[in-house]
Amino acid sequence: MPAADLPSDFWAGWILIVTAVSVAGLAWLIYSVYFGAAAQEPEGDETVWDGNLREGSHPAPMWWFWTMFASLAFSVLYLILYPGLGSYAGALRWSQGGELEDRMAAYEAEFDSIRDLIAVAPLEALRADAGLMASAKRVFDRECAVCHGEDGAGQAQLFPNLVDGAWQWGGAPADIERSIRDGRRAVMVGWRAVLGEAGVARLTALTAAMHGTGQPIDSTHAGHAEYMQYCVACHGPDGSGNPLLGAPSLVDAATLYGADLAAIEHTIAVGRGGEMPAFDGRLDDMHVRLLVAWLTRSDHAP
Ligand code: HEC
Ligand code: HEC
Repeated sequence: MPAADLPSDFWAGWILIVTAVSVAGLAWLIYSVYFGAAAQEPEGDETVWDGNLREGSHPAPMWWFWTMFASLAFSVLYLILYPGLGSYAGALRWSQGGELEDRMAAYEAEFDSIRDLIAVAPLEALRADAGLMASAKRVFDRECAVCHGEDGAGQAQLFPNLVDGAWQWGGAPADIERSIRDGRRAVMVGWRAVLGEAGVARLTALTAAMHGTGQPIDSTHAGHAEYMQYCVACHGPDGSGNPLLGAPSLVDAATLYGADLAAIEHTIAVGRGGEMPAFDGRLDDMHVRLLVAWLTRSDHAP
């Protein structure tokens, strides 16, 4: 039911009824004010001046009538031409979704003959083709931008930046392809119960000090012993993380949830569990290949 992009026929039916009833109601109101009984007959003991000027009824001026009439006519015309009446698509068959689908259909047809080629072509060849990269960007905008932001720069510190060169789950094309096809589910449990407030504070301070240094962890830091006990298994002895577990580097300049103390403390105390949905059934091989090529092109990194 892409026509008017409505969730279900049930709602479509209700919208149709409500719209029709309100248009009819407006028409009746306009009619009754000018031509209905109330406009014609004097009310009870109402004073009538000069035979036809009555005190109780003040017919609205004619310009009001014409304004209402024009807006009513406009509503009816609009509802005929554009989608507005439930799932009726409108005589012009206009719809944001429909427009997009038309464009996508044209684009699918354009690549139909080379679809299989694209799915196996070397990534360098795909990256070198500006037209294909523009198509890849369109697929990204359609499928991914809602979370990762328009240019993949991340969003709201909930959806990771995909163009900063830092890859939580690995940046090799095969890793990125797996992230897209199978999705990813990160598990970083909260440590407050184990570490206590003081321990959380020590590790928050250590993590903040590590951020962006790219240096080995300061072994004289008050939180170092706890790091080597509780964090090392996933984030590594040098803090560089482990892509197999989706544990990000804590020493690079990139960040998933923010580098401020409050965000770090929240991660350590409460935990995080980012989830990337699987796209395997939703995107075909060509789309996945185009996205991998687009995400691994070199001109997007800072
Ligand atoms: C079981 C593996 C595991 C252990 C142990 C672990 N982490 Fe994590 N950590 C992760 C994963 C996975 C993520 C990514 C979470 C996500 O993507 O939602 C993460 C994320 C983080 C982040 C967020 C980084 C950012 O860029 O926003 C911080 C900070 C962090 N961990 C610190 C620690 C500290 C300190 C410890 C020790 C107390 C620790 N972690 C122990 C797996 C682990
Ligand atoms: C519903 C929101 C959502 C959508 C839609 C989405 N993603 Fe994600 N994606 C996430 C989240 C959240 C993560 C981080 C998971 C984690 O914390 O480990 C992620 C992680 C990733 C990663 C791994 C990043 C890394 O550093 O290793 C890649 C690659 C990725 N997404 C690509 C895509 C592509 C390509 C699309 C579109 C086909 C897409 N995503 C659509 C939410 C989304």
